[in-house]
Amino acid sequence: MSYYKIPSLEQYFKHYKKSVREPRKFWDKIAFENFSWYQKWDKVFDFDIEEAKFKWFVNAKVNITKNCIDRHLSKRGEKTAIIFEPNDPSEEALHITYNELYVRVAKMANVLQEQGVKKGDRVCIYLPMIPELSIAVLACARIGAIHSVVFAGFSSSALASRINDSDCKMVITSDGGFRGNKVINLKEIVDEALLNCSCVEKVLVVKRTNDSINMNEERDIFLQPLLDNALNSHIAEIMDAEDPLFILYTSGSTGKPKGMVHTIAGYMVYTAYTFKNVFNYEENDVYWCTADIGWITGHSYILYGPLLNGATTVMFEGIPSYPDFSRFWQVIEKHKVNQFYTAPTAIRALAKEKLDFVQKYQLNSLKVIGSVGEPINEEAWHWYNDHVGGKRCPIVDTWWQTETGGIMISPIPFITPTKPTYASLPLPGIQPVLMDELRNEIEGNQKTGSLCIKFPWPSMARTIWGDHQRYKETYFTAFPGKYFTGDGALRDEVGYYRITGRVDDVVIVSGHNLGTAPIEDAINEHPAVAESAIVGFPHEIKGNALYGYVILKEHGISRDKDNLTKEINQMISDQIGPIAKLDKIQFVEGLPKTRSGKIMRRILRKIAEGDINNFGDISTLLNPEIVEEIKNGKL
Ligand code: PRX
Repeated sequence: MSYYKIPSLEQYFKHYKKSVREPRKFWDKIAFENFSWYQKWDKVFDFDIEEAKFKWFVNAKVNITKNCIDRHLSKRGEKTAIIFEPNDPSEEALHITYNELYVRVAKMANVLQEQGVKKGDRVCIYLPMIPELSIAVLACARIGAIHSVVFAGFSSSALASRINDSDCKMVITSDGGFRGNKVINLKEIVDEALLNCSCVEKVLVVKRTNDSINMNEERDIFLQPLLDNALNSHIAEIMDAEDPLFILYTSGSTGKPKGMVHTIAGYMVYTAYTFKNVFNYEENDVYWCTADIGWITGHSYILYGPLLNGATTVMFEGIPSYPDFSRFWQVIEKHKVNQFYTAPTAIRALAKEKLDFVQKYQLNSLKVIGSVGEPINEEAWHWYNDHVGGKRCPIVDTWWQTETGGIMISPIPFITPTKPTYASLPLPGIQPVLMDELRNEIEGNQKTGSLCIKFPWPSMARTIWGDHQRYKETYFTAFPGKYFTGDGALRDEVGYYRITGRVDDVVIVSGHNLGTAPIEDAINEHPAVAESAIVGFPHEIKGNALYGYVILKEHGISRDKDNLTKEINQMISDQIGPIAKLDKIQFVEGLPKTRSGKIMRRILRKIAEGDINNFGDISTLLNPEIVEEIKNGKL
């Protein structure tokens, strides 16, 4: 019996039980039967929970790109691996077959090696959603370099801090990128970032917009001529199962972003397995995930998961509103997309527009539609179900995180009955638990608590780059022996999970994970600002938006508030990116603080939400009178 594909609800329960009772046997079988290895593992896993050290497929030897590409060439060489759909609908889409992908990745791998990149080196990839992005990622994996993709919407200072944190030797970027009717000058942003990065030796530049750019002769090289001269075959590096595959930065509730490190074999096995089951991918299906490869969703479910299954995956350069709000639906019709995976923010934004945009197009190729990144509200769920899925397509509401590497809780289409706003049941291998404030496991159903995972799984992040202590403290100390997700959840009467949102100081804005601390740091750098506190508040389209409480220094008090608001948002935009701009700023004289000096954010959240009558116990506040003042200031 194979465990790779779950065929029925009954089998789901059987597989699940097996994965909990005999995890070694369960994963051993999946890994052995569905991937190609240079050398098998000695042990399926080896953990030291106290030290937060986890190893999967111990001592196995593998290369993930052999599994993503080479392995498919005999059967699927002429099958399309990647469909590139450009930003501008009048530009032709590109179909890259597995044979072509092999050659392009081989050439790129040879170029990287010729340029001095070695196994274990870090390469920062700062590119728009163009084929070279996928090819660069795969080429790094092929030679054993660790890719660190930075979303091309991040500012130069955010880029610089990520490059420095992981000590990247090379940056791969482009002259610019197209996004809707905008052109983004990526090379300029890289140039500015690199003023502060001495670790970078070379910058490879892809031409996309053909705008004129500055080239630093000693450092910058156009990629295409190098590719033209490169050999078109490449012998993949033999990697250890636990060698790092990539670093991907995610916001923390405090301090600088965390470089989450994922290692090769566990990530490979789990993303492939979850892709196959959660999207019910069948040979010849066309699958489209609208995320950017700069986020984990793009890593796992545009690239690795689909390619590991020999799938056809769509890579979309554009945005849902360009040239108009029918763009997604037009692409689905054009490429006869079978599985479509997007974020609630996009669904809510599109649901606000005329129905005509979606009704104009044939969406009957769709079989499964998915949601990721934030809770999907009931209204958005029904709109998606009725107008996109035509009430025929199960919605897979997939809960997971950058740290988890792959989907953790999700319906399995045509098998798990769906329920709006519920991510439903854990996938085999995943053991969620709810914890109370006293760190006890909450038994029984119809309960809410902090969501933890009580047993390791193959694709969990192994560490934070350069800071294992922070990894241990962030994820394994709040509830000893368990992985703490940072989310709260409700378990209903049948055991379905519904994610209720973050319980820490991370706010999910339009599906993007934003830590409040780095935004506060950016604001506090403004010369007129003394202190600030950021909280999230509900927003119709974005899910949450940011609300800032700002205390001004004496000389700032007389300044024009509209100008200050603009300047503060500009600072945030420069330091982090436009994503983190505040929707509302309230200038206040103080912040509610406990006697130990901690800001009581609970109160600030309530005021931001407009719930100003019931603050609960504020007796531990050092300055309770400020609550009234802030409240009145808002009114
Ligand atoms: O709060 C949860 C929310 O997104 C967080 C993870 O963000 P990130 O690491 O950026 O990864 C996003 C893509 C996997 C989670 O802690 N989240 C993600 N998926 C869902 C969700 N909240 C509710 N429902 C979901 N389906």
